Amino acid sequence: MSQDLTRRTLLKTTAVAAAVSQTSAQNNRLRVGWIAAGSRGQHVMKQMYLLSKDMVEVTHVCDTYKGNLAKAKDIVQTEGKNTPKTSIDYMEVINDPNVDVIFIASPEHWHYPMAMAALKAKKHIYLEKPIAHTIEQGAEIVALAEKTSVVVQVGTQNRSNKLYIQAKKMVEDGLIGEIHYTRAFWYRNFDETADPTKTTPAAWRYVIPEDSNPENTDWRRFLGAAENKNLPFNKQRYFQWRNYWDYSGGISTDLLVHQTDISNFVVGSLVKAELPLSCMASGGIYQWGTPDDREVPDTLSAIYDYPNKFHLNYSCFFGNDQYGYGEQFMGKKGTIEVMDRQNLYFNPQPKFIRGSKPFSPQAALSMNYLKDFNQPDATADHVKNFLEAVIGKTKAIAPARAGQIAAIPGHMATQSFRAKKAVFWDAKTSKLKIG
Ligand SMILES: NC(=O)c1ccc[n+]([C@@H]2O[C@H](COP(=O)([O-])OP(=O)(O)OC[C@H]3O[C@@H](n4cnc5c(N)ncnc54)[C@H](O)[C@@H]3O)[C@@H](O)[C@H]2O)c1
Repeated sequence: MSQDLTRRTLLKTTAVAAAVSQTSAQNNRLRVGWIAAGSRGQHVMKQMYLLSKDMVEVTHVCDTYKGNLAKAKDIVQTEGKNTPKTSIDYMEVINDPNVDVIFIASPEHWHYPMAMAALKAKKHIYLEKPIAHTIEQGAEIVALAEKTSVVVQVGTQNRSNKLYIQAKKMVEDGLIGEIHYTRAFWYRNFDETADPTKTTPAAWRYVIPEDSNPENTDWRRFLGAAENKNLPFNKQRYFQWRNYWDYSGGISTDLLVHQTDISNFVVGSLVKAELPLSCMASGGIYQWGTPDDREVPDTLSAIYDYPNKFHLNYSCFFGNDQYGYGEQFMGKKGTIEVMDRQNLYFNPQPKFIRGSKPFSPQAALSMNYLKDFNQPDATADHVKNFLEAVIGKTKAIAPARAGQIAAIPGHMATQSFRAKKAVFWDAKTSKLKIG
């Protein structure tokens, strides 16, 4: 057997992968196939080269818009010093027996078919969040991932952010005491007078490349996994897909999943319940309505009740960014907040009961992602954790199951918002009941 075949056999057997030494991984780089290289795909690729350059060789890049395909190839040539094969057909990447690991950064509706095809080919995958467009699709990915001895890392990179790792430790050390309540939010705003050919004048109205046309932008391949496959070429839908239900769950699955995920990660071991019992969501298109043809809300609140008396209160609004992004873990003895993924604050309780002794003797404290951890972007660490899991050096911090547990509450919010009813999760049957 050739040395190369031996290496690939080793990598594909998880039990044996644990035995693959770091040295062997350094000498024999993992061969990476890259599926979809839009804004996130290109960013993740750069973050991969930042911390894991020596572990990888990107052998294939695939994208259905030739402009992004060319950009991805250029990143590989600049950072990796090799020239990858290029393709508009993701199955060419998956079917190449020389590819060890696959990154998938496609729009949400494509996650399921691409992940399932990669898993069937026994490739390790880094799969952007949300794990899938529906609860049922996500469950199938988890089942196959767990049956197949491959590593799956879902792109919920907050788990690799040292501030959240610190927050988790503080919670588990008892710093905030008993916990029944987390508040999470994400607020954004946009300058509607901005030039749409240069920047984003409204939520999720990303710049559409000027050169895009039916010859270089494969509309049929983009639509391939969508419910409605008969629409004529439409650049808004292609490049601003988050605004349409066919390709996205909107705020719930695009943004909220990061926060349900990190709430589980930070307080999960105290709460001892991973999924909510119920969700009620409401909102609408308040800020960016007609003539904008978006279908998903720009304003959404979702209220969750979990087992064991735990409550998650979420809100998102795209018309004012004063309060930015954050999670506030509110315990009996104190509060830990992680704000904008950049600062962690602890404050003891109580704040307002004058003259009473604090329940917690701990002093307030704060930490900064750069000053205290020198970690500009947790994505680089998240990718590194994935690659190290593939060579058996560690375990993936965001496996498929965690991705699904993060996504289910997102889907619950979408269903509740659309049905205008509360939705209930049946843990015994793993099914959602509306109203
Ligand atoms: N983890 C995070 O913080 C984070 C941040 C942003 C986006 N994301 C996720 O990354 C994914 C991509 O988002 P984005 O902002 O890069 O979108 P995007 O529109 O910028 O990029 C999507 C790319 O996929 C390509 N594509 C579409 N259909 C394809 C197909 N059938 N085969 C191959 N390529 C295809 C498009 O041409 C485009 O280049 C989404 O799942 C999104 O939720 C995650």
